[in-house]
Amino acid sequence: MSEKYLGPAEIIRKKKEYIIPCLYHFYQKPMQLVRGEMQYLYDHKGKKYLDFFSGVSVINAGHCHPEITKRICEQVKTLQHVCNIYLTQPIVELAEKLAEITPGRLQKSFFCNSGTEANEGAILLAKIATRRSELLALQDGLYGRTYLTMSLTGLRFWRTDPYPAGGISFVPNAYCYRCPLNLSYPSCDLACAEAVRRVIETSTSGEVAALIAEPIQGNGGIITPPPEYFPRVKEILKEYGALLIIDEIQTGFGRTGKWFAIEHWGVEPDIMTMAKALGNGVPIGVFTAPPEIADTYTRPGASTLGGNPVSMVAGLATIEVIEKENLIANAASVGAYLKEKLLELKEKHPLIGDVRGIGLMLGAELVREGKEPAAAETDAVLEKMKDRGIIIGKNGRYRNVLAFQPPLVITKENVDEVVSNLDAVLTEVEKMR
Ligand SMILES: Cc1ncc(COP(=O)(O)O)c(C=O)c1O
Repeated sequence: MSEKYLGPAEIIRKKKEYIIPCLYHFYQKPMQLVRGEMQYLYDHKGKKYLDFFSGVSVINAGHCHPEITKRICEQVKTLQHVCNIYLTQPIVELAEKLAEITPGRLQKSFFCNSGTEANEGAILLAKIATRRSELLALQDGLYGRTYLTMSLTGLRFWRTDPYPAGGISFVPNAYCYRCPLNLSYPSCDLACAEAVRRVIETSTSGEVAALIAEPIQGNGGIITPPPEYFPRVKEILKEYGALLIIDEIQTGFGRTGKWFAIEHWGVEPDIMTMAKALGNGVPIGVFTAPPEIADTYTRPGASTLGGNPVSMVAGLATIEVIEKENLIANAASVGAYLKEKLLELKEKHPLIGDVRGIGLMLGAELVREGKEPAAAETDAVLEKMKDRGIIIGKNGRYRNVLAFQPPLVITKENVDEVVSNLDAVLTEVEKMR
């Protein structure tokens, strides 16, 4: 079976020769993944892995879900692409469905091909709608890899461009475990939200177009603000006539036990961006706004492949499967179970400093004494879990947060398997120190 495959060593060799080296991969000894089936992946030797990272929060409905795959294949065989200068049906059907499931009055969409593009487009829309250009972004946020979205990104690790775009001011995030203002919740009275006002007053002309934020910061390390945070931020932005752009690229489509994570804070975004899980593996991106904001964008704005029938059908099929299989409720209940188990592990293992997140968007920050980030230990945990057939993710400002973002189809038995292996692996890693 393995003969038709190159194998990890040869892929790494070819990567070195032909791929621009900015593209890193996980693991000292990586595997070649060749097949996926719901929450499982298989390497070229047939070894099975339980996937708890979903290709970074993408495969919400499970790998190669038969119904989604069938619909995509049918569409590929029928009509793959004509460009949106011609009329096709799936684009309006998906836009209508998004209007139904997104919060509040979000209604009109623009489709593109990635999360980065969705954020870039959302910023353009905010600038057009407000006739302003200054922007606010959260520290520890990540919004993409283009000039503007990288300039908005608040993580040094992902800020490669030494000459970022101007007109951007950063606000402290609600990272309660490492409060940027050295306070504690709730006695802080949400000083980080109040800082939005101070930053507008001190670092901008006062004419801010928008603030962009993830409801739960994914790459930042599953940083989950307290319940009052977004309502307070929205109120302050409104006072200054600035819009709130919510990036649901990692958090959307059921992952947190609601269609969209921002619903946990009861706040309606002015513009919302989505990508990743909407396509369940097919490239897609979209930004959505209420009519009075969306309707200001009237000058031509096309995307050659944005809105193509294959991605649109993938989006429609994914949403239907999430609905039909009650995956949102599963994310809530299995996620609560996983969080409880991780909190139990935290009691037992000094390496776990914090457990946070909602639904199946959970993180465990690994630390040494005095909250010193345990990045090497995080890598060791990832490697050992992989050797045991379990894939978990990592992220965080210091690359020391274990990320649990599995397909929403997982069961409590899958959680038990992950937790018992993690317990053993943490013991091993703690002994190594
Ligand atoms: C929150 C968030 N926004 C935007 C992006 C960029 O999306 P893409 O890689 O699809 O361009 C990412 C990617 O990880 C992300 O996590």
